[in-house]
Amino acid sequence: MEFFDVVKERRSIRHYEEGFVVPFDDIKKILEAGMFAPSAMRRFPWEFLVITDQVILQKIEKEHQYASFASSAGVMIAVCEKESVSHAGMGVLDVAMASQNIMLAAHALGYGTCFCGVYPETHEKFNELLQVPKDVRVIGLISLGKPIEIKPTPARYNEFKVHVNRW
Ligand SMILES: Cc1cc2nc3c(=O)[nH]c(=O)nc-3n(C[C@H](O)[C@H](O)[C@H](O)COP(=O)(O)O)c2cc1C
Repeated sequence: MEFFDVVKERRSIRHYEEGFVVPFDDIKKILEAGMFAPSAMRRFPWEFLVITDQVILQKIEKEHQYASFASSAGVMIAVCEKESVSHAGMGVLDVAMASQNIMLAAHALGYGTCFCGVYPETHEKFNELLQVPKDVRVIGLISLGKPIEIKPTPARYNEFKVHVNRW
């Protein structure tokens, strides 16, 4: 796919084909794209927990206020920050950049994703639920699966958001 098509056509997908299994090779490609994101001082503080276990996916659905599609997607990637590795408190930004690469790569491969926020309000709950180590925090959960909805590409360029030289 052409780069600008990937960027513009990616939409948050919340309806997935139940039972579709995303091949792990594709998950690896998608995570590799995440790992190509920029990172402050090359610390690469991200960690990724790939969740395919339906029992855990259903627990996520129950505990997350806005992730009712977790089990139908079939995969949730917990995008995490290892705080001790981050530079100057910038790890959350690094993880956000990796997350966007992940979502774009998934879209380019024909998958749907939706970023579900966790940090800063509910990371303690999800850290416990997903049993991540103490110096790791869950920043978000990205659903991944075969989309069964097609969303139009809206016009989004907004000249009022752009300031040149002076505000
Ligand atoms: C930090 C963050 C948290 C989000 N949390 C959720 C969420 O919990 N559940 C959800 O369905 N969508 C969530 N979204 C997706 C947004 O709703 C979505 O990106 C926005 O509506 C724009 O739509 P688009 O992604 O299709 O362009 C989140 C997005 C971001 C960046």
